[in-house]
Amino acid sequence: MEGIVEKINKLKQEKNAVILAHSYQNIEIDEVADYVGDSLYLSQMAAKTDAEVIVFAGVYFMAQTAKILSPEKKVLLPRTESGCLMADMVNLQKLREFKSKHPNIPTVCYINSTAEVKSESDICCTSSNAIKIVKSLNSDKVLFLPDNYLGKWVESKLEGIEVVTYPGYCPTHLKIKREDVLAIRSRYPEAEVLTHPECHESVTQISNYVGSTTEIMEYAKDSNTKQFVIATEEGVYERLKRDLPEKEFIMIREDILCPNMKWHHLEDIYNSLMKEEHEITVKPDLAIKALRCIDRMLEVSK
Ligand code: 13P
Ligand code: SF4
Repeated sequence: MEGIVEKINKLKQEKNAVILAHSYQNIEIDEVADYVGDSLYLSQMAAKTDAEVIVFAGVYFMAQTAKILSPEKKVLLPRTESGCLMADMVNLQKLREFKSKHPNIPTVCYINSTAEVKSESDICCTSSNAIKIVKSLNSDKVLFLPDNYLGKWVESKLEGIEVVTYPGYCPTHLKIKREDVLAIRSRYPEAEVLTHPECHESVTQISNYVGSTTEIMEYAKDSNTKQFVIATEEGVYERLKRDLPEKEFIMIREDILCPNMKWHHLEDIYNSLMKEEHEITVKPDLAIKALRCIDRMLEVSK
């Protein structure tokens, strides 16, 4: 009997579809995914694929970004519940208030934001290129939203640039505390702690390496160290355990799960492809404005 993976692969061929999956997804999704990685990589793949249909196993803003980059394609989000709590912390009105308090300063928005917020920001960034993007503006002061912690981490890496941050945050990453790092270090003194920049600064400051999900995975692969503590969503830990069985990975805490990412299962991917639901749409005038901000980022990231 044909299994769900074969059924999805058959549908992918029939419909000329690709599946993009974020590294926080349930790991079963990798069995059918064409591309798995961080937000920057997935947006680059969405921009360049020739497929007619993109199924996005990620959160809403990622699928919306794919639609803005490839408006002629059908972009499907298998489960509409998959929002991003951080992206929802800022809307157009709050962005305008933030900008009016700091007039005439370039605004960088994290890709974890809505199309409306992107449409009134100067440039977008992801966790892997945020430093490069802020630097590219050649300004001694920039506004950064919605992630206060990513913004402050970028500021700590750039001399002479003030990063004025908006008070947004990721509830999943903020569960990780400095005490967790200290406790795990005393149990595993040889291990390197690899951390996502959405974590609190008291955690990033004492980590061995800070990077995006893909950067963390590449660092673990290239490093001579054999033991690592993972301070980001557990999807990264699961993939590292699978891909690098010769190394040891320890999760900083057991409850670092993004509930929004975990909605998608193989059944949902199958239903979404078969019924061609749930299609993402973005109003053309809004999409044009948001595209400027995303395109500018992709240009700087080349
Ligand atoms: P990446 O840029 O590492 O994909 O991170 C996206 C994200 O939402 C992390 O919480
Ligand atoms: Fe959003 Fe945090 Fe989930 Fe990333 S981990 S998608 S920032 S809620």
